[in-house]
Amino acid sequence: MVRTIYSFPEPRINNNFDDVYSPSEDSYLIIDYFRENIDENYFDGFELAKIRNILDMGTGTGIIAIFLQLIKTIVPKFSPQIYASDILENAIKCAISNENANNLEKKIEFIQSDLFKKFPSILKNSFNILIFNPPYLPSFKFKNEGWDKKNIDYCWNGGKEGFEVFLEFIRDVKPFVDQNQKFYIYYISSSTTNLKKLNDNLNIQGFKNTILKKKHVFFEEIILNRLEKRKD
Ligand SMILES: C[S@@+](CC[C@H](N)C(=O)[O-])C[C@H]1O[C@@H](n2cnc3c(N)ncnc32)[C@H](O)[C@@H]1O
Repeated sequence: MVRTIYSFPEPRINNNFDDVYSPSEDSYLIIDYFRENIDENYFDGFELAKIRNILDMGTGTGIIAIFLQLIKTIVPKFSPQIYASDILENAIKCAISNENANNLEKKIEFIQSDLFKKFPSILKNSFNILIFNPPYLPSFKFKNEGWDKKNIDYCWNGGKEGFEVFLEFIRDVKPFVDQNQKFYIYYISSSTTNLKKLNDNLNIQGFKNTILKKKHVFFEEIILNRLEKRKD
């Protein structure tokens, strides 16, 4: 039975760091979809009681992890451990300070890591919901090609074609998803990239991609997608 949540929490978010991504249209595209698709029994059709761990990869200010942690305070059946990770030390500092500002001290587990490189093996086979609003804009130069990447570039530079960072995430994510039951991976993509090439790649890797929401922002369309294991 669908039991609607009438009043979703509003995270209080501050950002005093120059190199940390402030919540933008893409962050709110994800949060708005969650507002529309979480009820007192289901997370986008996924039974709440079955969700063990949630990961917010590239958490930035922590807005998505904090939003989900706040929902735990109003929905009794929603009790997963929430993990938030970012490559930037300042993002982790910023997200912890926002966690505290929302009275959620030490509730979220933070990991400073380049994708999954520093994730402990105890987290293998454990995540049911994963969210990555990755850097998704194409650049003509990228790390390993003699470009001195600055911290702020991690917010937008998705690689030469715009989806290399995301595809690296996809290559490394498999051991960490809960293979015993369902998992969903939510991510943002952009019309500035070759979406067919991205989708073909995801398809080859065994994922089914569903487009959930789109928004036109300045020169591009940003797209919220959900990946799940393809049933062949
Ligand atoms: C577009 S921002 C999204 C921030 C936040 N999730 C939001 O929606 O407002 C992308 C984030 O991914 C992080 N990031 C980029 N490359 C990463 C990597 N290799 N490993 C972990 N985080 C990364 C950036 O530091 C940045 O915080």
